[in-house]
Amino acid sequence: MSEKSKPIIFSGIQPTGIPTLGSFLGAIKHWERLSSEYTCLYCVVDMHSITVRQNPAELRANGREMLAWLIALGLDPGKNILYYQSQVSAHAELAWILNCFTYMGELNRMTQFKEKSSKHAENINAGLYTYPVLMAADILLFQTNLVPIGDDQKQHLELCRDVAGRFNNIYGEIFAMPEPYIAPVGARIMGLQTPENKMSKSEENVNDTIFLSDAPDVIIRKFKRAVTDSGNQIRVSPEKPGINNLLAIYSCVTGKTLAECESEFAGQGYGHFKTAVGEAVSEMLKPYQQEQSRLIADASYLDKIAAEGAAKAHELAAPTLAKVKAAVGFNTTL
Ligand code: TYM
Repeated sequence: MSEKSKPIIFSGIQPTGIPTLGSFLGAIKHWERLSSEYTCLYCVVDMHSITVRQNPAELRANGREMLAWLIALGLDPGKNILYYQSQVSAHAELAWILNCFTYMGELNRMTQFKEKSSKHAENINAGLYTYPVLMAADILLFQTNLVPIGDDQKQHLELCRDVAGRFNNIYGEIFAMPEPYIAPVGARIMGLQTPENKMSKSEENVNDTIFLSDAPDVIIRKFKRAVTDSGNQIRVSPEKPGINNLLAIYSCVTGKTLAECESEFAGQGYGHFKTAVGEAVSEMLKPYQQEQSRLIADASYLDKIAAEGAAKAHELAAPTLAKVKAAVGFNTTL
């Protein structure tokens, strides 16, 4: 298939710290699998990150760290377009236009806005509110067909589809209608201490989250401390959020089905199971960690990859942005 006729994948990740096991198993792991059949754009969404106050030097460093992680985790820059969102101005331009096609009623329903505004009560800015519109622009700019995401981004993708449909109804078929790809297992990895909440890099209790850079002994310790329940059976059950989460992690890491994982640990104690999950995770991460450390030492290589990615993304976005501007009635002669 030629580059032009391949379907398009777009997804993004915020450079707000070290990626977690949740973002790897829920999203990045699937990005890597798809690069031969699709034209893939994976974007470090630094513009989304400033909806929460950031230290500028840290944000810059975290952007590079994230780019190095994406490459280390298997996204070959020769086969995938990797770039920083802020380096392609089309994202901001389309976001403004789409803001004028998104209703406040729709944004009021976004659960992530409600969660984040209660966490950052001192800084409930307009960007935090219109965050999903920028995300819709990210996706729609490229005629994206498929968006591999974790379950927490599903509502944002539905909004994106609603806005695309509304725009197309008014102006004709400008945008492709994107479909989510949400993995059947691992789309919502939960906190190890709070298995009723999503594993998150902003969680204050560090034992709740596995960061991809965690050393093997740290990973194993965190898993040993993982909250389970007062029973003794290792099986999937609505009453066992902690065990369900550990089984999902083990299944994603080993490639075994949940049923195979259950029978592997049948009759064994929680202690043994938790150690086995920790060991499997730390073994899986080791080569990625080594590769990320190697890559992060070469800032000029990373900057070159990002600049090349931004140039390609700019080129791919240009026809859609031009169509949108013409459709809404902007003067197009320069
Ligand atoms: P972000 O940076 O929070 O997370 C990146 C990706 O990882 C997934 N993820 C998880 N999956 C399973 N379990 C978890 N505990 C977990 N934590 C994170 C997220 O669902 C996501 O797919 N708004 C997005 C970034 C974004 C984007 C886009 C995504 C901006 N524009 C366009 C897709 C398309 C975000 O904050 O992801």
